[in-house]
Amino acid sequence: MCGIIGIVTGKPVAGGLIASLKLLEYRGYDSAGIATMQNGTVWRERAAGKLANLEHKIKDHGVKDGGIGIGHTRWATHGAPTEANAHPHIIDNVIIVHNGIIENYAELRDELLANGADIKSDTDTEIIGHLISNQLKVESNIETAIQTAIGRLTGAFALAIMIKGQDDLLIGARKGCPLVVGIGDVEGHYIGSDALALSPFSRQIVYLDEGDFVFATKDSFKIFDQNGQSVERDVNIVELQAATMDKGKHKHFMAKEFFEQPDVVQHTLAHYIDLKSNTIKLDDKLDINKFERIVMVSCGTAFYAAMVAKYWLENTVKISVEIDVASEYRYRNPPLNSKCLFIVVSQSGETADTLAALRLAKQQGAVTVAIVNVPTSTMAREADIILPTFAGTEVCVASTKAFMCQISVLATLSIGLATSLGRIDPAKATAMTKELTQLPRLINDCFSIEADIIKLAHDISKVEHVLFLGRHTSFPIAMEGALKLKEITYIHAEGYAAGELKHGPIALIDEKMPLIIIAPDNEVYEKTRSNIEEIAARGGDITVFTSKSRAAEIRKLGLKAIALPDCSSFLSPFVYTIPVQLLAYHTAVHMGTDVDQPRNLAKSVTVE
Ligand code: F6R
Repeated sequence: MCGIIGIVTGKPVAGGLIASLKLLEYRGYDSAGIATMQNGTVWRERAAGKLANLEHKIKDHGVKDGGIGIGHTRWATHGAPTEANAHPHIIDNVIIVHNGIIENYAELRDELLANGADIKSDTDTEIIGHLISNQLKVESNIETAIQTAIGRLTGAFALAIMIKGQDDLLIGARKGCPLVVGIGDVEGHYIGSDALALSPFSRQIVYLDEGDFVFATKDSFKIFDQNGQSVERDVNIVELQAATMDKGKHKHFMAKEFFEQPDVVQHTLAHYIDLKSNTIKLDDKLDINKFERIVMVSCGTAFYAAMVAKYWLENTVKISVEIDVASEYRYRNPPLNSKCLFIVVSQSGETADTLAALRLAKQQGAVTVAIVNVPTSTMAREADIILPTFAGTEVCVASTKAFMCQISVLATLSIGLATSLGRIDPAKATAMTKELTQLPRLINDCFSIEADIIKLAHDISKVEHVLFLGRHTSFPIAMEGALKLKEITYIHAEGYAAGELKHGPIALIDEKMPLIIIAPDNEVYEKTRSNIEEIAARGGDITVFTSKSRAAEIRKLGLKAIALPDCSSFLSPFVYTIPVQLLAYHTAVHMGTDVDQPRNLAKSVTVE
């Protein structure tokens, strides 16, 4: 994940920038750079590869230090990890570093080119720099110019900016990607991707809210919200030790990890999508032509990721996909051979049953793939092919962001394999890939339902049982919703396929039975709606998670509806995971259970 640091102290900052970038290394990166400024003169150094390369260049060329600077570790999204694409970018008077994906980059780039802009890199960051530079030419108030230019961006991003000639002005902006402000322990102000990056300089941390801008000088700072209103944000005291395991402004790791989802999904997608061509980058070893079928095996939440993928893979790749929980699979003596692509999905990469299934598949000659979050794990070492997720460390026992990254990888895999086999119209593949790039923003938009979910969570905290229902890809999300609720609130919850209800579970329904029905506006919406009406007729206490465009008709039936942003059927598992995760979280918080370490559970289940 990209890392951002900005320092304004009026004293030499280059050493501090490098020290901070070292603390951001854990996020992963493939190039790095810093820029400092003194008396309007900008000095910049960038290097592909590790920070050591940047340090060597600085040593060779000599530091020309300044009292203000910005630095960046880049995880390539738009454009290869070259020095030319590394940040900071300098466009006229604007020096900028960026984390995120600008979705309307192509339109903005075309517009800028049509107006004669000289665009030098492949990055979307440079486009932002041009927009700001152009705005500064017509708007003398820097704050307004920045807010206007950044207001044109669609996507999820965090930015740090300097303006030539403004030696005492460090600017930050965030939407969808995290950014914090640090008040210097000794002097100055800082901005960074997380509190850890600022820990050598600052224990007083301000977590910027969605859409916030910060304008910092060495002596003061002001924050504006997304409407341009001046706002105050709380100052939090964060000790170094806490910064290492930073919960940010959140009470629990689960909340922190939940809100990281736009960021980690973006970084996971960046690994698999060529954003310039909107095509999928598939591992060369993954020659799908060799395989007759796919088998996917995993446990718990990771199993529900595989369940979602079964719908995608069968529909797009048109290949038979078998899925099973690892604890069953490993003992049922399943026939496998070299024509089978065998995929395990695991956050930890250490789950005993999943690992045993992987070893079984290898023994039988299947080609094995591990979709895994911990790159040093046993599964990552033993599988033939690793498809990493980039969720970062997941501390909370209940998985949130790892699941979202697993389905991100599986979505790209479905498009990639279908393309390799020529089973998808290339235009459709491009359109689906483009849709995936909207995910960071879309997930971020979903966060606006939190207040509605808190109200629902208060009701749910009083009940003993909950049923979650969904059809198609919403069925695994219903299962995941039920799992998440039971594991952290200890309320009994079950997920069912909505159409299966009448084959037994409908007997449970009376006015005391709460049901959460996941009904995105997709190809099976009408079918799910019929199920909703069947349950309503029997007096069930129904809440429907549906799209904005369908919420009104659900409410007309006299039922509760929580309205999610409209999205395609393909993206609905991502969007509808947000309310089920949030519901479990807020119910647990209201009940006062141990959210991050629920009773009886372990993060990594290394025993059978
Ligand atoms: C639930 C949860 C578990 C894990 C399962 C597999 O929130 O986290 O169900 O998904 O134990 O673990 P990994 O993915 O590490 O193999």
